[in-house]
Amino acid sequence: MSEKKLGVAVVGCGRMGKRRAVATTSHPTSHLEVVSDTDFSRAEAVAKELGCRAVPDPLAAIDDPAVGAVFISTPNSTHAPLALRALRGGKHVFCEKPLSITVADAREMVREAESRKLSLMVGSNVRFFENVEKAKELVEHGAIGKPLFARGWIGHEGWVLKTEPWSQDPAIIGGGTLMDNGPHILDILRWLFGDVDQVSGQSFQRLHQLPPSIEDNFLATLVGQGGMPILFQASWTEWNGYFFLEAYGTEGRMAIDSRGDAALVTVVGKDKQTQAFDFSKAEKQSFKREAHEFLGSVHSPSPHLESGRDGMRVVEIIQALYRAAKEGTRVSSLGR
Ligand SMILES: NC(=O)c1ccc[n+]([C@@H]2O[C@H](COP(=O)([O-])OP(=O)(O)OC[C@H]3O[C@@H](n4cnc5c(N)ncnc54)[C@H](O)[C@@H]3O)[C@@H](O)[C@H]2O)c1
Repeated sequence: MSEKKLGVAVVGCGRMGKRRAVATTSHPTSHLEVVSDTDFSRAEAVAKELGCRAVPDPLAAIDDPAVGAVFISTPNSTHAPLALRALRGGKHVFCEKPLSITVADAREMVREAESRKLSLMVGSNVRFFENVEKAKELVEHGAIGKPLFARGWIGHEGWVLKTEPWSQDPAIIGGGTLMDNGPHILDILRWLFGDVDQVSGQSFQRLHQLPPSIEDNFLATLVGQGGMPILFQASWTEWNGYFFLEAYGTEGRMAIDSRGDAALVTVVGKDKQTQAFDFSKAEKQSFKREAHEFLGSVHSPSPHLESGRDGMRVVEIIQALYRAAKEGTRVSSLGR
C-alpha cells in the first residue's frame, strides 16, 4: 500500500458494507485496510474477495491506527455508538441512513464531528441517482419557477423484513418504513425545496405481521419553506417500488420517476413545452459515486459536515412525524 493512501475500515459486511468496501477499492487515494462484522464469517468473505484484513472485533477495526476513515454499515441502533467511537478517535465517518434512531444521538454525532473538524456523511444514495441530480439542477435553474407544492412516495414490498431480521426488532430499527425508506425521500425533499417546519402524519399496519411500533405504511403532510405543502407516503407494501416525486411551481411541473427500472425526470412548462431526460439505460453508479464523494472529502481542506447535519435534521423530522402520528397532532418547529 502507498504511504499516502487513506486507510479505510468498513464495519458491517452485509449488503451495504460490501458495497462500501467494493467502492473503496476503486478510489484512487484510499486503501481498504480492514473490515469487521459481528458475524465474522461475513467479514472474512469480504476480506478474502477484496484483499484486506478482517478482524472479529468491530471496535478494533475502528481503533486501528492505520485507519483514518470508517464506513458504518450496521443496523440502525448501532450507528451512533460505533460512529461516536470513530469520531472520538479522530476518524472521519460515513454512516448509513438513518444517522441514528434518536434525535439526541444524531445531535451528539454532529457535535463530535464539528468540534473535531471531521467529515460526517450520511448515506443518501438517492441524491446520486442521475435523474435526481438532474432534477436538482433543473429546480436550481428555475425550470418550474417558485415551487408551490410537492407530493411523492418511496418504498418497496418490504423485502428487508425477510433479509434483515433486525428490521423486525423495534429496539434496533427504531420504527418502520418511515425510518427505513423515509430518510431518502425526506433528504431529497429538503435538498430540492429547503427545510420543513411543521409535520403531521399517520402510521398504518396494512399487511405485514409486525410489532405495534413498526408500521408498514406511513402518510406524512409537511409544511416546507414559505408555507409549501408537501405530501408523501413511505411503504413496505409497494410492489413496484421505488420512488416517485412530483412538484408544481409557478412556471410548470416536474416529475422524478424512479419506478421499477425507470430513471427519468420530466419538466412540463405552463406553455406545455416538455423537457425529458431519461437515464434508465445508464449504468447505476450511485453507491460508488457516493462512497467516493466521502473518501474525497477526507482529503479536502473543509470536512464534509453538511451531510451529517442533513442526516440529523431528517432524524428530527422522522421523530416529529412519529410523535404527530401517536398524538394525533401537528408538530411545529420540530424540536429546535
Ligand atoms: N440505500 C441506502 O442508503 C441503504 C440501503 C439499505 C440499507 N441501508 C442502511 O444500511 C445499514 C445496513 O443495512 P444492510 O442492508 O447492509 O443490513 P445487513 O443486515 O445486510 O448487514 C448488516 C451487517 O452488520 C452486522 N452487524 C450487526 N451489528 C454489528 C455491530 N455492532 N458491529 C459490526 N457489525 C454488526 C451484521 O452481522 C450484518 O452483517 C442499515 O442502517 C440500513 O438502514 C441503506
